[in-house]
Amino acid sequence: MLQAAVIAAANAKGGCGKTTTILILAGEYAAQGYRVHIIDADPRRRAIKWAEAGAKPASITATEANAANMRVEIEKASKGADVVLIDVEGTANAALTLAVAYANAVIIPAQMSPPDVEDGLTTIQLVQDIAHASRRVIPYGLLWSNVPPAIRSREMMNLENQVSEAGVPVIGRVFQRSAFAAIYSFATTLDELPTGEVPGLDKAKADVIRLTDALALLMASAAPPSNTKETAA
Ligand SMILES: Nc1ncnc2c1ncn2[C@@H]1O[C@H](COP(=O)(O)OP(=O)(O)O)[C@@H](O)[C@H]1O
Ligand SMILES: [Mg+2]
Repeated sequence: MLQAAVIAAANAKGGCGKTTTILILAGEYAAQGYRVHIIDADPRRRAIKWAEAGAKPASITATEANAANMRVEIEKASKGADVVLIDVEGTANAALTLAVAYANAVIIPAQMSPPDVEDGLTTIQLVQDIAHASRRVIPYGLLWSNVPPAIRSREMMNLENQVSEAGVPVIGRVFQRSAFAAIYSFATTLDELPTGEVPGLDKAKADVIRLTDALALLMASAAPPSNTKETAA
């Protein structure tokens, strides 16, 4: 029996913002007092390297996983943590399929560019197939990542229309901010970044709180009613 909330970030497109999403969520859930475990299933090991640099809060742990040990890693992590965050690369691979099959929410990060959206839609198709095959509701949504704060181009509006016409739920947007790049260089969470050295921390924090609020709503949409007993009526 799993107790933790399992959240996966997936999109076959490299550089779409998966690891950044996982790391900012890890920081925010830790700041909210939860025990967080990151499962890094990307051979580039960026989340692991971030964790190994040693500046993160102790309430965040991280391990690697691949297709062979994903199930065991998720079940182990779910016993020791409140939130399990899974960073998966690729599309039609077994590690991704297992992560999605366990997930309480799947985030599809996408920058506002056609390849990110195209690969994101392919990943969403897989999420829908897994949900269908397992007869389970798997909440998912696209997260616009690394969004330039100032510009609203026609191209961006076209992409938003494409996503909405495909019927894909949108979780929100995370803007392009130096604070989100700085979590790598300082190897720590947003809340632990040095205020004097990194500009725009408050705006970045607001982005992240909006994201965790949206995720809470998304996961609640699939949760069974908690106060109703099944009756044989
Ligand atoms: N919101 C953001 N603000 C600033 N830089 C970002 C943001 N999101 C992603 N990046 C940068 O974009 C690059 C790719 O993001 P990353 O999360 O590593 O993508 P993925 O894990 O999908 O390959 C990284 O260098 C990261 O620092
Ligand atoms: Mg990555």
